[in-house]
Amino acid sequence: MTNMKNIKTLLLWCVVGTLSAQQTPVYLDASQPIEKRIDDALSRMTLEEKVAMCHAQSKFSSPGVPRLGIPENWMTDGPHGIRPEVLWDEWNQAGWTNDKCTAFPALTCLAATWNPALSKAYGKAIGEEARYRNKNVLLGPGVNIYRTPLNGRNFEYMGEDPYLASKMVVPYVQGVQANGVAACVKHYALNNQEINRHTVNVKVDDRALYEIYLPAFKAAVQEGKAWSIMGSYNKYKDQWACQNQYLLQDILRKEWGFDGAVVSDWGGVNNTDGAALHGLDMEFGTWTDGMVENRSNAYDHYFLAQPFLEKLKSGEIKEEVVNEKVRNILRLVFRTNMAANRPFGSFASPEHFAIARKIGQEGIVLLKNDKNVLPIDVKKVKTIAVIGENAIKMMTVGGGSSSLKAVHEILPLDGIKNRIGNTAKVLYARGYASDDYKDQDGLAANDITDKRPAQELLAEAVKTAQQADVVIFIGGLNKHDGQDCEGNDRKQYGLPYGQDAVIEALAKANKNLAVVLISGNAMAMPWVKSVPAIIQDWYLGSEAGNSLADVLFGDVNPSGKLPFTFPVHLEDNAAIALGEYPGDKEVTYHEDILVGYRYADTKGVKPLFPFGHGLSYTTFKYGKLTANKKTTNGDISFSVTVQNTGKRDGAEVVQLYLHDEEASVLRPYKELKGFEKVFLKAGETKTVTFHITKQDLSFFSANQHAWVAEKGTFKALVGTSSGDIKSTVDFTLE
Ligand code: BGC
Repeated sequence: MTNMKNIKTLLLWCVVGTLSAQQTPVYLDASQPIEKRIDDALSRMTLEEKVAMCHAQSKFSSPGVPRLGIPENWMTDGPHGIRPEVLWDEWNQAGWTNDKCTAFPALTCLAATWNPALSKAYGKAIGEEARYRNKNVLLGPGVNIYRTPLNGRNFEYMGEDPYLASKMVVPYVQGVQANGVAACVKHYALNNQEINRHTVNVKVDDRALYEIYLPAFKAAVQEGKAWSIMGSYNKYKDQWACQNQYLLQDILRKEWGFDGAVVSDWGGVNNTDGAALHGLDMEFGTWTDGMVENRSNAYDHYFLAQPFLEKLKSGEIKEEVVNEKVRNILRLVFRTNMAANRPFGSFASPEHFAIARKIGQEGIVLLKNDKNVLPIDVKKVKTIAVIGENAIKMMTVGGGSSSLKAVHEILPLDGIKNRIGNTAKVLYARGYASDDYKDQDGLAANDITDKRPAQELLAEAVKTAQQADVVIFIGGLNKHDGQDCEGNDRKQYGLPYGQDAVIEALAKANKNLAVVLISGNAMAMPWVKSVPAIIQDWYLGSEAGNSLADVLFGDVNPSGKLPFTFPVHLEDNAAIALGEYPGDKEVTYHEDILVGYRYADTKGVKPLFPFGHGLSYTTFKYGKLTANKKTTNGDISFSVTVQNTGKRDGAEVVQLYLHDEEASVLRPYKELKGFEKVFLKAGETKTVTFHITKQDLSFFSANQHAWVAEKGTFKALVGTSSGDIKSTVDFTLE
């Protein structure tokens, strides 16, 4: 009897067990390993459901599997804030009232902080905003290398140096993904210009590809563990980058072991076979407007939709091809939308504005400060003249896909006025006016149209400057087409709208002149010698005016360093001097590995401001650089002391470069291989130590398709910039 009862109980448990197993399929059980969940989900899907996941269903979303409760993917730009909601099939605004975000500083500013901890904070905060808005993929960060100062999209990227960009991109990716939101690193790869971006075939040799253009992507994938990556529009080896055997299969998947989803750029897919067979997983934005063809089922005509399905059905393309894509997409979904314990996110919070302000403060670069014009001592000045359009121009709107609808944007003039209060008089004059204001995808910036003739604006500015104790000119570029803006490159290296003449005139009118340039690119400064103080400001987002005022009035001691070289003339840029730009159907990177300071240093071309340059309101003294004992595996470390010898607390970015004395190939004179931002109280000294491995001494050999370190003497150089080396030490690799 007892036995019978036991058997009955056992049977009952088996039934319950089977039922509960049926009720909770493996793919829905977030405690199960992801690969098991993927296999299970895949085994339940029809061919049609699989194909549906591989292409968009709206401007920014792709289908899930409703029957199985697998949610849709929702993407958002990126990379400086969460893009306002657009209509289902159009770039134009949906007109929501609850999608006003925090606008964070542009990535050039983030790179200029040289502070990986701030990059982590940036990623975490923007990831929280994406999560709150129910987006599971953030289209950013961008890490295309700064090849020429004319690229309209440089402001969205992290500068010219692969080491700096790598160190800064990894924490950003980790910060975003801690929210269960995928970072989508873009634009992979070789999208270094906007002119002809949809057609140009980039020719670059393997060495430059591996040493300069790929490292930041590789770091994002291998160290940051990015869950998605976006292909670029251009071609490489005559194949579109979004459907490129070499970039996507050989390098990304095989060499780097990427297991995330490859997303196309919007309209970057060009045919079914390439998209199906060369490593792309998800197709977006084909024919720019999804509904341009005016068919109710336009998305079915995507290259990875009906045409793909037909080829799968006929057996021309094997089912394993779509299975592979769906595995990658399901992995993305399970890591994000269907992850266990996913945080809820937060949006436009005081914490996010505080982070934006701090990144701005730390990214602003003090380029020049003769006669201590800066910081401005509010107790000593009665009248401050602010001149220039960018003091009153909104910069969160415009520039292309990174355009934002921010809760607020503190304009520079307002930031200054708020800081000054009633202690001094603030005068304003326009000085110059840009071309007509345009909106971006139906999102309007403040209308500051001024039709007065240039001479009148200039005369007014000079008169205003003469009445003031100190003059702050705020100009630079903006986000109009042909400047710092997607889809086109800059037309000129010089400042637009006659600003040079205004600056020259102001320098004559008042010797206490500080020029603040807002941009994401280097610009010519023919007046550099006549202006005592120059600040490189960036697109700082919501807190722009506050961050700038914090630095101008000395509440914050500047510590930003340039993430790219400022050449004197455009012709001093390597791509212009040695390479091809912008090319037509093809562009060859003849300058090879000599990008940015690598070119300036190696060829002895003196820059206007070198890579890594940035001053402080205090002074730093470097000790002697010493090489420490090698470890058993041959790794070596270097140490240097840095002292704050001034009266203010401040931060210095200590930079370590390596020089190879003798090599079988051309090597750049020196390359950045370590940096650390140290915060020093007035009078304080700290020791900074850098660890160098054999990999840091290597170059990429195209012949061997491997990194090679050659024996011999090397030199380690430590300095405050690539142009200001304080101490060096020789060492050997045996
Ligand atoms: C840009 C991408 C962007 C996408 C979606 C494309 O034109 O190149 O960076 O993420 O549009 O807006």
